Amino acid sequence: MLKPNKLANNNFLSSLDLSTDEVLHILELANNFKNKKLNIDFKNKVLGLIFDKSSTRTRVSFQVAMTRLGGTTIDLNPTTSQIGRGEPIKDTARVLSRYCDVIAVRTFDHLDLEEYGKWSTKPVINALTDLEHPCQALADFLTIKEEFLDFKDVILTFIGDGNNVANSLILCGSLLGVEVRIACPKGYEPNSLVIDKAYEIYKNKNLLKITNDPNSAVLGANVLYTDVWSSMGEENQKDEKEKVFNGFTIDSNLVSKADKDAIILHCLPAYRSKEITDEIFESHKSRIFDQAENRLHAQQALLSCLLQ
Ligand code: CP
Ligand code: NVA
Repeated sequence: MLKPNKLANNNFLSSLDLSTDEVLHILELANNFKNKKLNIDFKNKVLGLIFDKSSTRTRVSFQVAMTRLGGTTIDLNPTTSQIGRGEPIKDTARVLSRYCDVIAVRTFDHLDLEEYGKWSTKPVINALTDLEHPCQALADFLTIKEEFLDFKDVILTFIGDGNNVANSLILCGSLLGVEVRIACPKGYEPNSLVIDKAYEIYKNKNLLKITNDPNSAVLGANVLYTDVWSSMGEENQKDEKEKVFNGFTIDSNLVSKADKDAIILHCLPAYRSKEITDEIFESHKSRIFDQAENRLHAQQALLSCLLQ
């Protein structure tokens, strides 16, 4: 039976905290968990969840993943704990390390997440920051692997804002050698350090393309992926961003230029008629709900490695 390996890094703050082999190992474990071929008992292990932003999928999939592993979770709502009153992260992290075996944090500033990682003696997981969403990327590549069986010759085109979700797709894509194309409006390109890092990792530098033209980016693509135009914390930019992102909707016109068997992914939540049309969202090529389900299996796999 496949066994979860201990990871080289204690924390999972970024897609780059994993090596290529570790990503592949987690995807294989996830597939085994999904197909009920793996049963691991982490009785008495506790996952602490700190969510400074809203969440449906990440929160629930972590709770279910931990339950299926035989452990339990504590939802540390910042408004009812001392976190919301401004207790220093370094104190919260040191205290929670005494109670919990692993901590997942969703917050705004990536530096705050790194502060948790620095002071916690137990593994810290990035459950989304403004910079990265690496758990999402694991589920995304699990979904892509299920569809195409391997990553060779797969072209993944992301259309939308070059922030957290796009950054993690680029980094995880570079580890897996997947061709990643990002199409975003001018000024909304992915983080430049992320791009530089990915180019360092890619053996073939032509596999990463950043463009402002969605029409050329989708040509022959096997996977079309999008995310909300206004992320959490950007609610006051909604009207402005809707204007800037005009032309970046995944619709039947863009899909017709992709590979004829292309699948559509979306990390969710989705806003119909904004980043994706209802018709495309609901179409038979959509694997969006498999992708959401895969959050559970990927995180179960991740937890089983981090808790070794
Ligand atoms: N995709 C995702 O992270 O969803 P939630 O915000 O609901 O967790
Ligand atoms: N970019 C989005 C992702 C939501 C899962 C946000 O940060 O709100």
